[in-house]
Amino acid sequence: MALTLAIETSCDETAVALFDTERGIIKDLVSSQAKLHAPFGGVVPELSAREHVKNISPLLEELFFETGLTYGDLDFISFTLTPGLVLSLVVGVGVAKAIAHYKKIPLVPVHHLEGHIYSVFLTHEVEYPFVSLIVSGGHTELYLVEGFGRYRFLGGSLDDSVGEAFDKVARMLGFPYPGGPHIDRLAQRGKATVSFPTPKVEGDFNFSFSGLKTAVLNFLRRNPNYPKEDIAASFQKKVAEILKDRTLKALDRLNISRLTVVGGVSANSELRKVFRELQDMGIEVYLPEMKYTGDNAAMIAYVGALRYKIKKFAPLDINAVPSYPLERFGTDWT
Ligand code: KG4
Ligand code: ZN
Repeated sequence: MALTLAIETSCDETAVALFDTERGIIKDLVSSQAKLHAPFGGVVPELSAREHVKNISPLLEELFFETGLTYGDLDFISFTLTPGLVLSLVVGVGVAKAIAHYKKIPLVPVHHLEGHIYSVFLTHEVEYPFVSLIVSGGHTELYLVEGFGRYRFLGGSLDDSVGEAFDKVARMLGFPYPGGPHIDRLAQRGKATVSFPTPKVEGDFNFSFSGLKTAVLNFLRRNPNYPKEDIAASFQKKVAEILKDRTLKALDRLNISRLTVVGGVSANSELRKVFRELQDMGIEVYLPEMKYTGDNAAMIAYVGALRYKIKKFAPLDINAVPSYPLERFGTDWT
């Protein structure tokens, strides 16, 4: 039995969690900066970093106060090393290192995407191998997961991530950042009456969303009074269709019938519906619990615990890295 404190500050959520390797999550807290960035239409890196610095200590205070645990109870620290906004990452990395150094306990680095992949495992174990579709604000990628630390990149977006596309279309419709949840809510009142074109992309498992975003913009310019809820429903339906199509191709090519769909956009109701329907085709589909779709430290703790078990720790001079291929992270760090 071992207790970890996990820290996640890769983007605009300051998140901390306490996780016991036997009992699982004890408590996890997320402090979102969404309101701060809303007027800017996206995350402002320097503001984000400053906000993490401001929030992290009160959040840790609350975490320990509410659980009755202390720094002395910790066996190791898990933290997001990469990828993310480097100014934001360094806050979490710095705090993690300071605690590890002071308490003389191991420091366990986690790849943010690995965190998202394992967010599903917080509620149900998934057998290997499986395909994971990561849909977030920073990433739209398909991976083959053959075991812990064994990831094969299959394809990804050649331009905007799916979360970015949601946020940009929401902005066109007059909603603040992050726009995904606004589109989701609006679409529930609309009908998919507009047939947006499917973007052509090289490679069977790659995605492209910038063309779709432009198609929505052009449609809005030509039809300024068209019901917004119908535009939202049409856009969302097209996105789900594109994601489903490429994912099914990957499953078919690899002859795998086990899938996880993770990341902030996996909270989308249309996406959840479309992917759940794949179960009728005999595909096992796993989605994270709603509170673990977006960035959180519980998923970082889960991966930290897996890495702690194989005793691969980071040296105290480790530094944040803005990006690092997940495939190599697995082999370099395990
Ligand atoms: O995973 P995440 O919290 O952060 C990153 O690692 O990027 O993902 C954030 C993204 C944002 O683009 C946000 O608009 C989108 O997830 N999102 C949604 C929904 N909830 C969050 N997109 C569509 N529908 C939603 N319900
Ligand atoms: Zn994320």
